[in-house]
Amino acid sequence: MAVPEADDLDVVDQLADAIDEPEEDSSSPFFVSKKAAAVLKHEILRQYVTPFVSKIGLYAKDRRVVFLDGYAGPGTYSDGTPGSPALILGSAQSVAAFRTLECYFVERSRQDYLRLRALVEQLSATGIVAEALKGRVESHLDYVLEKAKGAPLLAFLDPFGLGISFEDLTQKIFGPARPHVAGGTEVLLNFSSNAVRRIGGLLLTEKAVKNRDVTLARMDEVCGGDWWRAVFLAAPDNASAVEAIANGYADRVCRQVGAVAWTVAVRNRRHHQPIYHLVFFTRHWDGVWLFGEANSIAQAAWRRECAPPHVPDDNALFDLGDPFDAEEATREESWVIEVMANIQRLLAEIGAFQLQSFHAAVLGSAIDHARKKHIREAVKRLYKAGATGCDGKGDVEKFVLTPSTAA
Ligand SMILES: C[S@@+](CC[C@H](N)C(=O)[O-])C[C@H]1O[C@@H](n2cnc3c(N)ncnc32)[C@H](O)[C@@H]1O
Repeated sequence: MAVPEADDLDVVDQLADAIDEPEEDSSSPFFVSKKAAAVLKHEILRQYVTPFVSKIGLYAKDRRVVFLDGYAGPGTYSDGTPGSPALILGSAQSVAAFRTLECYFVERSRQDYLRLRALVEQLSATGIVAEALKGRVESHLDYVLEKAKGAPLLAFLDPFGLGISFEDLTQKIFGPARPHVAGGTEVLLNFSSNAVRRIGGLLLTEKAVKNRDVTLARMDEVCGGDWWRAVFLAAPDNASAVEAIANGYADRVCRQVGAVAWTVAVRNRRHHQPIYHLVFFTRHWDGVWLFGEANSIAQAAWRRECAPPHVPDDNALFDLGDPFDAEEATREESWVIEVMANIQRLLAEIGAFQLQSFHAAVLGSAIDHARKKHIREAVKRLYKAGATGCDGKGDVEKFVLTPSTAA
C-alpha cells in the first residue's frame, strides 16, 4: 500500500488547522517542559505497554505486536524528557529479546516530524522496527492497519484538540477487518475536554464565529453524531457537560464495537477542570486489569507531581520530613476499606463471584486509585475476619470470592 507523500498532505493540513485547535509544535510551551497531565498519560504508557506486549504477544504470530502513535509529536521534549515516541521505543527495546513491538509514529507538523524521524532512525539502527510517517494520521491509517493485519494492535491517539472520526475508530481500527479474535485491538485515546468546552460554547453564542458550522460538524464527526449538542445544552455547567459527553462518547464506541471503556479525567492540578479524558478501549478482561495497574501507578506519580515541594520549617525544633508518603499511606488505607465494603456488599447481594468481571464493582470509587495489591490486602483482611473463604493468595483477578460459609 502506498504511503502518501509528505507534501501532498500540506494542503489538507492547512484546512484542518482552520477547523481544529491552532497547531502547536515543538516550539510551543507544551513541548518545552512537561505538565502534570502529561506525567499521568506518560506514566500510563510506561506502565502499560511492556506488560501488554509481553502478555498479548505470547499468543501472537511471530510474537509480534503493532503500536500506532497517531499524534506523535517530536519524540522528546526540549529539556530531553521522553514524549510518547521515546517511551514506546524504550518499551520496544525492553521487550526486544522476546517480543517484537513494531512501532508506527505519525506526525503532522514538519518541524516535529523531522525531530521524530531522527529519533526513530537512531533506534532503528539498534534493530527496533519503527517508522516515522509525516502527515495526518487519517491518511496513514490504512497503511498501518495493513501492517497490523493478524497482529495485536495498540493505538495511542493523543491530539491537542479533536482527534480521529468516530467512523475511523469504529469501522477501521475496531472494524470488521480486525475482528475480536484477530489478536486484540486496544486504543488509548485523548478526548479533549478543552475542545468540548470551546466547541460547545459555539452552541450558546449568537455572535458570528468563523468556521462555526464546520467546527460543529467536525465535532459531530468525532462523536458519531450530533447527540452531544443536546447533552451540552442540557448540562447545568461546563464540567458536567464535559463529563457527560466524554462518557457518552465512550459508551457509543463500546456499543458499536463490543468493547469496554475506562475513562480517566486528567487535570494539571486537583482543583482544575480536566483538560482531557483518557479513554481506554479494550475487548479483553486482561486489558482492563493491566490498565488498572498502570493507571493506579500513574495516578500516584501524578499526585507526587502535584504535591508541593517539601520546605523544612526553620522555626520548628524538628523537621518532620515530607508528608507525602504518610498521606499516601492514609489514602491507600481508605481504598482498602472501600474495597472490603464493596466485596461484603456483593457477597450479600449475589453470593459467590469470580473477581475478574467484577473489577469495577469491587473497586467502586477507588477505581482510579487502587490496584491489585489493595484488593489482595482487602481480601486477606476479610478472610482473617471470617467474612470470605478466599484467602487472598494467587492471581488476584482469578479470586473466587465466597461467603465464609461456602468456603
Ligand atoms: C498532544 S501532541 C502529541 C504529544 C505526544 N503524543 C506525546 O505524548 O509526547 C499532538 C501532536 O499531534 C500533531 N497532530 C495534530 N493533528 C494531527 C493529525 N491529524 N495527524 C497526525 N498528527 C497530528 C501535532 O502537530 C502535535 O505534535
